[in-house]
Parts: sequence; structure tokens; C-alpha cells
Amino acid sequence: MKQIQWYPGHMAKTKKEIIEKIKLIDIVLELRDARIPFSSRNPVITEMTGNKPRVILLNKADLADQKELDKWIAYFDAKGVKALRVNAINGKGVNKILPLLKEILKDKIEKEKSRGRKERPIRTMILGIPNVGKSTLINKLANKKKLVAQDRPGVTRQTQYIRVGKDLELLDTPGILWPKFDDEDIALRLALTGAIRDDILPIDDVVIYGFKILNQYYKSQFEARYDIKVDIDDIVKIFDDIGTRRGFLLPGKKIDYDKVSNIFLHEFRHEKFGKIILDRVDEHV
Ligand code: G4P
Repeated sequence: MKQIQWYPGHMAKTKKEIIEKIKLIDIVLELRDARIPFSSRNPVITEMTGNKPRVILLNKADLADQKELDKWIAYFDAKGVKALRVNAINGKGVNKILPLLKEILKDKIEKEKSRGRKERPIRTMILGIPNVGKSTLINKLANKKKLVAQDRPGVTRQTQYIRVGKDLELLDTPGILWPKFDDEDIALRLALTGAIRDDILPIDDVVIYGFKILNQYYKSQFEARYDIKVDIDDIVKIFDDIGTRRGFLLPGKKIDYDKVSNIFLHEFRHEKFGKIILDRVDEHV
């Protein structure tokens, strides 16, 4: 498989910037894609966040298999990290963020109070890989019209916070993390869910991987969608059967394989096989 390169200089610079910004905040909101709670992580995030508390927000929860998502939340909990399911578009779950942050930071807040410090909003920032929903969540939290940028003493001029109600301040620019590309399964899962551009991996590899993962975990939805019987050892027949059912034919009655691939990927990313999770907790225990 083609190796995907992430320019190391860029990575080092991004990491340094994020580490600098993290110093200014109380707690990190790490956004992940609920369909790939493991593959959408950044492998060195703990190096960047250091001792700062962190919450995992499993975004796009509307697209995820809720039963598997419960297992992931329990998995993170057992590791001592709180995770919440959210939908940044309609805001479902977003109102649970602030109470959770207050709970996690209870001791710190109490300590400051006992030292006579005036109560202040909790400061946070959003981190996550591209396309995971960072901007959508910032807009949701900011309620759009409430975008009040502030200059604060002791903080560089370009660092601005968005005030969310009276109790929360959010850095206005999210930290963009890189995913782990060098693991083939992870790269394919990122591609399948649309987290990385389609020209990065050969589309056939991505589609065949999609067939395999549906066959493994969501076979009945896969078969029902196209009204076919899937034999995963005969990939060409799967392409042929989908093409025939949908009438994706080229002149001479040949199957239009490109069309099968493009439609399959589109449908995969738009809930046409139901709510799915590609990463499984049992792969990681
Ligand atoms: P980013 O800043 O992290 O890069 O992500 P951004 O907010 O731009 O969101 C990327 C895409 O994900 C957007 O779709 C957005 O609407 C969608 N999205 C964000 N949060 C959710 C969610 O909770 N549920 C669902 N279903 N979708 C969500 P887009 O602009 O249409 O791009 P695309 O769908 O063509 O990739």
C-alpha cells in the first residue's frame, strides 16, 4: 500500500504550538469520530497534553452503533478518561460537556476559591484530526452570535477565547492533530469514514476493505441494501452483483466498477448500512 507521508517538520511545529496553547487552559476536549473511536485518535496526544485533564468527545454519535459505543465509553472509563457521545450538528450531548468539566475540575476550582481567587470560567480547547467536527462544535458551543473574542493579560494577542455562557471559555482555534497513517487498518478506516481525502489511498482498496468490514460486522444490512448474497471470498462477484442490481453498466453490458465503488463509498458514509462502528473494543484489550 502507498505510504502516506506527513511532513515531519510540520508535525513538530504543530505539536509545539499545541503544547504552548495547552499551558493556557484547564482541560482539553479531544474530539474523535464515534464510528472509529480508536483510529481517529492522535498517537502522541498524551505527550502533548501532559498532566492536563482531558475529556474525549465521541462526535458524529448519530452515525454510530450505540451498543458498540457504550462499550467504548466503558473502555475509556476503565482507563480513567471520561468520554461523552455528542452530535455537533444538532447539539445532542453538548449540554453534558460543562457539567462534566466542572466535576473533573472540582478540586482545582475549590482550591482557587479557598485561596480567595474570584470565580472564573473554565478554559478549554478542542483538539482533533481533520474533519472530525471541530469547527461545527465550536460554532455550536458559541451559539454563533456569541462570538466574543477577548484579549487577556498575559496571553499573546492572537490567542482568543470564545465565551460560552458565563462558565466556559473556548480557544477560538482548534488544535489540528494528525492521525496515525502508517497502520494499514487505521488508514483504511479513516478513508472509509471520509476523514482523509479520497485520493490518498487507492479507492479499490478502501471499497474492498468496506466490503470486508460490513461482511464481518453488519452482513445482513450489507446484503439487504443491495439485495445480494455476499461471499467475501469472491470480491469480483460482489462488485458484479451490486453493479447488476443497480444497473451500473457500460456499453457492451460490462459492469461499471468505478461507479460501484463511488456509490458504495457515498452510501457507506451516509448511514445507508445503518449505524456502524468500525473499531472494536476487543481489538484493544
Ligand atoms: P473539522 O473542523 O474538524 O475539520 O470538521 P468540520 O466541523 O468541518 O466537520 C466536518 C464534516 O463533519 C462536516 O460535514 C460536518 O457537517 C460534519 N459533522 C460534524 N459534526 C457532525 C455530527 O455530529 N454528525 C454528523 N453526522 N456530521 C457531523 P460536511 O461539511 O458536509 O463535510 P462532508 O460530510 O462532506 O465531509
